[in-house]
Amino acid sequence: MTPPALATSELLARYDRPGPRYTSYPTAVEFHAGVTDATYMERLARADAHREEPLSVYVHLPFCQERCAYCGCNVVITKHRDTTEEYLGYLDREVDLLASHLTARRTVSQLHWGGGTPTYYAAPQLERIFERFARYFHLTPSAEVAIEIDPRVTSKEQLSTLRRLGFNRVSMGVQDFASDVQLAVNRVQSYEETAALVDHSRAEGFTSVNIDLIYGLPYQTVKGFRRTLDQVLTIRPDRLAVYSFAFVPWMKAHMKHIPETSLPGAQVKLELLAMAQQVFGEAGYRQIGMDHFALPEDELARAVEGRVLYRNFMGYTVQSARDMVAVGVSGIGDVQSAFVQNFKKLSDYYAALDQGRFPIDRGYALSDDDVIRRHVITELMCNGYLDIVATETRFGIAFDRYFADELAALTGPDSPAADGLIGVRPAALDVTPVGRMFVRNICMTFDSYLRARTGGPTPVFSRTV
Ligand SMILES: C[S@@+](CC[C@H](N)C(=O)[O-])C[C@H]1O[C@@H](n2cnc3c(N)ncnc32)[C@H](O)[C@@H]1O
Ligand code: SF4
Repeated sequence: MTPPALATSELLARYDRPGPRYTSYPTAVEFHAGVTDATYMERLARADAHREEPLSVYVHLPFCQERCAYCGCNVVITKHRDTTEEYLGYLDREVDLLASHLTARRTVSQLHWGGGTPTYYAAPQLERIFERFARYFHLTPSAEVAIEIDPRVTSKEQLSTLRRLGFNRVSMGVQDFASDVQLAVNRVQSYEETAALVDHSRAEGFTSVNIDLIYGLPYQTVKGFRRTLDQVLTIRPDRLAVYSFAFVPWMKAHMKHIPETSLPGAQVKLELLAMAQQVFGEAGYRQIGMDHFALPEDELARAVEGRVLYRNFMGYTVQSARDMVAVGVSGIGDVQSAFVQNFKKLSDYYAALDQGRFPIDRGYALSDDDVIRRHVITELMCNGYLDIVATETRFGIAFDRYFADELAALTGPDSPAADGLIGVRPAALDVTPVGRMFVRNICMTFDSYLRARTGGPTPVFSRTV
């Protein structure tokens, strides 16, 4: 399997470099300690005034029993049930505190529990977490209620409880079914146990099942990954995420145990992604953004058709609320144009709540310019398209003057436009099919922070391919 004709080694040489994944703009590396719990309370007061508008809520449950070698998430590895029980007490306090600042705004259109592994908790504990939330907040009838689960530790009883509580979507980690890859990353998980849990989820009435895969893992080969893709197709999940392995040993020390020589090179990585695009495309999936896929009847696929897809820290969505609040260690909220992130260490998180304060570690208050650039980057990442006329109307700018430098960078010789990655018209920007693989690079053109960030002695971002 070869990548599309234009994705040559020349393209790789030009575009495979460190760059953000743009789960936010500005990216989390810009967050600073000047944004505090006082900032958060002020933004929550503003948010509370929009009482009719639904909220998005993220709940971070950080615990896992064992660490997967590739994991880049904010996790706490423990087998001590006391530790995990203590966490729930603090989570309750944070939910109480949040509700005391959102006295009028209590409707939620998107609820997402992520981790770590939320199903580390037993069914009664899951119920307890939900009930504290439901004491104050209520879900809209069409709310997207999602949870990340690890099939290796999730029971049928937990799934039944979650479904009864109102969860309608599950997302399961798989990454790769090849046994040599699984051994290398310390995550042994059979096809059979995964398929059985998907079947059970469907029998319980979950309307959407997502499976996560990663390309670029140690010892991954085109042949082996092809087999995984075929196995995944027999499960036929409603959605698929195919993430590029973010190898960041300078940030996640445990990744240093992965020998760099075991990692597939950029050319192979691109082949793996191109193969996933082809295989899933032929099986009827629509591509969503850069690295997600959905069956055509799924609402994400329909949102792509209508170019109304949105992305926040929880992933791609059609239910995006303007304000997103997060609870739990390391959680990131996005409220009234400010990002706020909770402390990453349990002890810091607990200490703030012991003082009756929001456990905010850092964040970022967006400027008007940030808001405009965020819109451009989000549209390109999600919809592969930017309506220039609508952007001008929305923000009161003349696009060609406001982004003169960026347009020049996109269209000069050796530029993304010249390389066939993007079409630049007066009324719109269109990312091409090949351009999707390099959409991070295209977005980097609009990132006004990047120049100051790159070129330093310590890398900041994983590579774009
Ligand atoms: C919180 S985990 C999923 C839930 C559960 N803990 C599990 O592993 O099944 C979220 C997903 O992030 C992805 N992920 C984790 N570390 C990554 C990395 N370094 N690069 C790319 N994707 C990563 C994996 O696909 C993983 O399934
Ligand atoms: S991939 Fe999932 S199970 Fe593995 S360490 Fe990360 S959060 Fe835990």
